[in-house]
Amino acid sequence: MKLRRADYYKLLVRPVVVVSTTSEKGISNAAPFSFSSPISFDPPLYGFSCSPEHHTWRNIKENEEFVVNIVGKDFGPLMHVLEQKFPYEVSEIEKAGLTEERSKKVRPPRIKEASAWVECKLESFAEKGDHIWIVGRVLEAEVKDELWSEVIDVEKASPLCHISGKFFATGMKMKKYKRALR
Ligand SMILES: Cc1cc2nc3c(=O)[nH]c(=O)nc-3n(C[C@H](O)[C@H](O)[C@H](O)COP(=O)(O)O)c2cc1C
Repeated sequence: MKLRRADYYKLLVRPVVVVSTTSEKGISNAAPFSFSSPISFDPPLYGFSCSPEHHTWRNIKENEEFVVNIVGKDFGPLMHVLEQKFPYEVSEIEKAGLTEERSKKVRPPRIKEASAWVECKLESFAEKGDHIWIVGRVLEAEVKDELWSEVIDVEKASPLCHISGKFFATGMKMKKYKRALR
């Protein structure tokens, strides 16, 4: 099947993260993102693609910090709340009935109900098409003990993945394959 070029991303199943940030006044914001990726091991760098209109970008420009909350399928029914455009300085965390928890190295809060947290400091950014590619340096990474088994235990954590619009994917199986280099 030949696709419209703009639909290429619907071929890629992508983990959903919820990025939390804070305004200058210290009020939290959270939004789901799926155009995201690890970039470098050393230094540890993480990137995600954010529309310039989003409050997430406004807050990161202001104080250069964000938390990547890695979420499971239980966050699926909350997507429609977390993605809503509430007025600036209305917390989506509160609106979604989630719990804020203090981060270790940055001001934006973690979301307690997430599976894991990656705390980041803005390293750089670049305009890419209609989005801003935001690169963060990882200052701290932590996962719930019960969801870790050498790597994230996908069967227990059940990561929420996005395809497009209302289409999501869940329910992964762990598989190990022989590698040439490790
Ligand atoms: C599953 C999912 C994935 C999303 N991924 C992205 C993304 O990668 N980049 C983006 O700019 N917006 C993405 N969005 C849309 C934003 O989350 C949404 O516009 C949100 O209101 C932005 O919030 P903010 O203005 O508080 O930052 C996604 C939404 C959902 C539900």
